[in-house]
Amino acid sequence: MASFTYIANWKMNVSLQQAKRFYEEHWEDLDNLTATTNSSVVLCPSFVALNIYSTGLPSKNLHLGAQDCSPYTSGPYTGDIDALSLHQLGCTFCIVGHSERRRTHQESNELIAQKVAQLQLQKITPIVCIGESAQEKEAGKTLAILEQQLKPVLTVTAATEGSLCIAYEPIWAIGSGNTPHLNDLTHTIATVKNYVETYTHKKIPFLYGGSVTSENISALRTVPLLSGVLIGSASTDFNSLKKIVS
Ligand code: PGA
Repeated sequence: MASFTYIANWKMNVSLQQAKRFYEEHWEDLDNLTATTNSSVVLCPSFVALNIYSTGLPSKNLHLGAQDCSPYTSGPYTGDIDALSLHQLGCTFCIVGHSERRRTHQESNELIAQKVAQLQLQKITPIVCIGESAQEKEAGKTLAILEQQLKPVLTVTAATEGSLCIAYEPIWAIGSGNTPHLNDLTHTIATVKNYVETYTHKKIPFLYGGSVTSENISALRTVPLLSGVLIGSASTDFNSLKKIVS
């Protein structure tokens, strides 16, 4: 794994045509950038755009990720996308449990753990998003909430050979322009990483997500135990992404 990882979560912000154009105009530059900076970039376009990016694989430091997957292997699940198909498309990562899905699709911690199990079976690394709301932070409940969100995922992971990556994304930081104080972030990452690794007996990389930009990336890179970042809106424009990775 390269020294720092950047997950580009395009959400539903990039249309199929825009994803095609991004691939034609910037894939090679992005590939070169990851090599010169010794970074990993995981591009997570919409499901329908994954096929376009499959053609650029394999690449040493540039990887393909999906934004979600089904908790089931196969069967009568209209609209779901199975982990095996994601694997066949060349995905080696997949975001699960993003707060937007927890909110708009009422996803529970247990459902997210089922998705993790499906991905691990296909040797896809799940990027599990966790994070507290502003009210939970105010009430001093951050660590309790994060541990509660993670518990079913850790039970699944401890029982398998599968890899796992955790993205700490405070809900109040996503799309708001606000980020945690570095001391608070350092403390949260260290505490939760210790909890996770004691539970699973595995080394689990931790990422941070929420309003990551070219202005705050240098400071974020100094946070101990942080292996990378998850970038939303600032990742959809090539020049903005380039500034962050450079
Ligand atoms: P943002 O989104 O960078 O636009 O805040 C991050 C995320 O939701 O993953």
